[in-house]
Amino acid sequence: TLVACAELLRDAGAAGRALAAFNVITLEHAQAVAAGADAAGAPAVLQVSQNAVAHHGGRLAPLAAALTALAREARAPLALHLDHVTSEALLRAAPAAGFGSVMFDASALPYAENVRATAAAVRFGHRHGLLVEAELGRIGGKPGDAHTPGVRTDPAEAAGFVGDTGVDALAVAVGSSHAMTERTAALDHGLIARLRTAVGVPLVLHGSSGVPDGELRRGVAAGLTKINVGTALNAALTRAVRAHLAADPDGVDPRRYLAAGRTAMTATVVRFLRALATG
Ligand code: G3H
Ligand code: ZN
Repeated sequence: TLVACAELLRDAGAAGRALAAFNVITLEHAQAVAAGADAAGAPAVLQVSQNAVAHHGGRLAPLAAALTALAREARAPLALHLDHVTSEALLRAAPAAGFGSVMFDASALPYAENVRATAAAVRFGHRHGLLVEAELGRIGGKPGDAHTPGVRTDPAEAAGFVGDTGVDALAVAVGSSHAMTERTAALDHGLIARLRTAVGVPLVLHGSSGVPDGELRRGVAAGLTKINVGTALNAALTRAVRAHLAADPDGVDPRRYLAAGRTAMTATVVRFLRALATG
């Protein structure tokens, strides 16, 4: 079932649960999220980063068509979200393509410029029915970036940022870092609670692949509402494909090894959804 991210975030917030959002690169990623959400009986977000859109030639329409169809066919509620958007052109293409929400990422800019760019994105988004997420406190480990799990979002600054920009959800730096392949990150639960009190919009954790289940659950209890997972799916896909090819070195049919990868990603999606369901 295709639903809006805004609705899923509202429901999750009201229930004190977290909404899991999975980064989609290939069609198999999206199929795995849909199958995993159906298997776990939980909603999920299919999110596509600007980098993933670029990988597919920069064109949103074919991706949106496939994801929309998959979401409509699934039993579980699924929302379409654009992630880590820095391009204004991509932001402007989102509503017509069927994306109900966008994470606009100006976090690499100095504070005042982040506010200015994000506020403009919010003005556009709200005119076109988009939920807009933004980031304050630079969460490390993005492509070309160092891992900086020590960076933190300041609660007073976060309150000012949300007030000045009008964002609907806020990605915060509370101990996670993007692209971790080991689940060793520790979250700053006291800071999450302070941010929760200071800020009236849902808090988003990026780089959740590197965070152990127990840490995620405590983070949700402290006030996180959206949990973004990307690398864990890629690791599962790659591991399964590598094993398949090693066992069948002469095989050339991509359906074989991609099916193995998709099965592994589905299991990963189910594992995250179940971990977040048992609050
Ligand atoms: O926006 C995407 C997420 O922050 C994914 O991070 O790949 O480290 O799980 P991850
Ligand atoms: Zn992220």
